[in-house]
Amino acid sequence: MQAKIAKLKAEIEEKLKTRETGRELYELKMYFQSALKEIMSGMKDLAKEDRPAFGKIVNEFKQGMEAEFERYAEIVRKKEMEKKYAAEQVDVTMPGRKYKAGALHPITLVKNQLIDVFAGMGFKVFEGPEIETDYYNFTALNTPEDHPARDMQDTFYLAEKLLLRTQTSAGQIRVMEKQSPPIKILSPGRVFRSDDDATHSPMFHQMEGLVVDKGITLCDLQGMLAEFAKRMFTSSTKVRLRPSYFPFTEPSVEVDLSCSECGGKGCRLCKGTGWIEVLGAGMVNRRVLENCGVDPDVYTGFAFGMGVERIAMLKYGINNIKALFENDVRFLEQFGN
Ligand code: DAH
Repeated sequence: MQAKIAKLKAEIEEKLKTRETGRELYELKMYFQSALKEIMSGMKDLAKEDRPAFGKIVNEFKQGMEAEFERYAEIVRKKEMEKKYAAEQVDVTMPGRKYKAGALHPITLVKNQLIDVFAGMGFKVFEGPEIETDYYNFTALNTPEDHPARDMQDTFYLAEKLLLRTQTSAGQIRVMEKQSPPIKILSPGRVFRSDDDATHSPMFHQMEGLVVDKGITLCDLQGMLAEFAKRMFTSSTKVRLRPSYFPFTEPSVEVDLSCSECGGKGCRLCKGTGWIEVLGAGMVNRRVLENCGVDPDVYTGFAFGMGVERIAMLKYGINNIKALFENDVRFLEQFGN
């Protein structure tokens, strides 16, 4: 018996030294307890008079070992904490991880700037649908079915009378049908045309403007455009109106801005002319007003429409419209704001 106890004692003491975790220590304790139980179960084979003395020895052994287990519980806890701290150690001299902040897409930037400029002049935003009827996109805009101006835009048809809008001008009709003058709206949105090269994309963005009230003249349009040019480009940017043709305006004009690259002297960007065409505009055609139930003898108005991509390309010196749609991060990063 004594020998068994001594052997168990030596074994446990040896093993205690190598315990690394609370769990290992617990398992050793379970092992010790069952070994002790077995030793104690040998008591019944002893002579009656030997039992108390043996009981005393076993008890002392048990108490002694329990104290040892407690002492090691503290040691193991320290070992575990040290390991944990080592694993969680932070190298404060290590350079931080770089997170790149997202930025608005240049088209969104320009669109927001345009809205800001016109909102400052009292324009309210109206957004029409991207899928339009033939009526709103063409007929009501004084472009009936057999009108040659329909060929000016290659249209994506969805059904016989249903199409992807080719111009935000369709929004003019929707507003005038619902609202009576005075009207002052800005209609931004995506438009679609079957057209694809370095300066054209099948989907692009336009910004339409419409003002209808009593006594509106071409001078109001010109004054507003001059203000727009200054705020969107530079304070010295000039505006020039050239006669043009759109079915929904009469007279119609094409609007040029003095070249922002050369200041009007003539360069590659403006092809030596000093001017860059940026938008179409005009006085709202009487027919269009009539189509919307607005009396053209009482009210007049002007309208304008511009390509957002075109403005972005001019403003940021981008020469291929595709750069705006490829979403190459190296390109977009330059507009970080
Ligand atoms: N809708 C024309 C286009 O897409 C642009 C335009 C020209 C809009 C004259 C207008 C305007 O409102 O008056 O080419």
